[in-house]
Amino acid sequence: MKIIRTARSMTAWSERLRREGVIIGFVPTMGALHDGHRSLIRAARLRCDALVVSIFVNPAQFSPTEDLTTYPRPIVRDRALCREEGVDVCFEPTARGMYPEGFQTTVTVPALARRWEGEARPQHFSGVATVVTKLFGIVHPHLALFGQKDYQQAALVRQLVNDLNLAVSIQVRPTIRERNGLAMSSRNAYLSPDERRIAPMLSQALRTGRQMIVGGVNDVAAIERTMRQTIEQTPAIHVEYLAVCDPNSLEPLSVVTDRAVLLGAVRIGSIRLIDNLLVKMPGRKSRASPQYS
Ligand code: PAF
Repeated sequence: MKIIRTARSMTAWSERLRREGVIIGFVPTMGALHDGHRSLIRAARLRCDALVVSIFVNPAQFSPTEDLTTYPRPIVRDRALCREEGVDVCFEPTARGMYPEGFQTTVTVPALARRWEGEARPQHFSGVATVVTKLFGIVHPHLALFGQKDYQQAALVRQLVNDLNLAVSIQVRPTIRERNGLAMSSRNAYLSPDERRIAPMLSQALRTGRQMIVGGVNDVAAIERTMRQTIEQTPAIHVEYLAVCDPNSLEPLSVVTDRAVLLGAVRIGSIRLIDNLLVKMPGRKSRASPQYS
């Protein structure tokens, strides 16, 4: 496995392979790789000839009060996982390389970034959109894979790829969960054993919401109330939002007609956890959702 640190060498590598007709897959990450990343890497491996994983803790998507300096960076373990999974290139740019002096362009996707994570983390999505656009411009992949765990991020990436006519195909893969339902995330490493024990309440609340919808309840206020009550049984968990939304626009629904996405964020101590579930009303003919298959 090659480790490439500069944009220029990364692009040169990709361009050489593209000229030979090689299909390049790409999994962008911030490192601290877990089984969720592993499943993206494996899915990419099946769909391409050469595979690039980027490991870059992107300062632009952290606010000054967030965990940029303490974000886990187990680079030796991350590289070992990439090697094990047959990754061809680990692209590990520096912050200076990505944002040199004089850098000024940002990418924003205002409507999709407005609510939910965008409300809690105002600069986050422009940081994500900017770095993902840059990474696509550097790596030149045919295909890039994202996890459904970050549903809003995936929706936004799809939107920017469409809006900016970027020649990359986006695939969103299912969330990988621990046995107790907790969605895998690099930030789970921050949870103490007690916090880890209660963290699955978020996925449990979303599952309860989904059961209600599948059982025929379409009143969103009732669904949201029940999801909230499920979590509020555990006082150590603070609900930030639990919402039933349109799976494409992410706007809140008042009634579920065919498809919905249940979005949730909670805080346990200082740790924020997010999760989501897609739901389809049984027996309803659904509008095709371009977001997720
Ligand atoms: O999901 C992540 O790990 C990051 O937001 C991403 C897409 C790698 C951009 O920094």
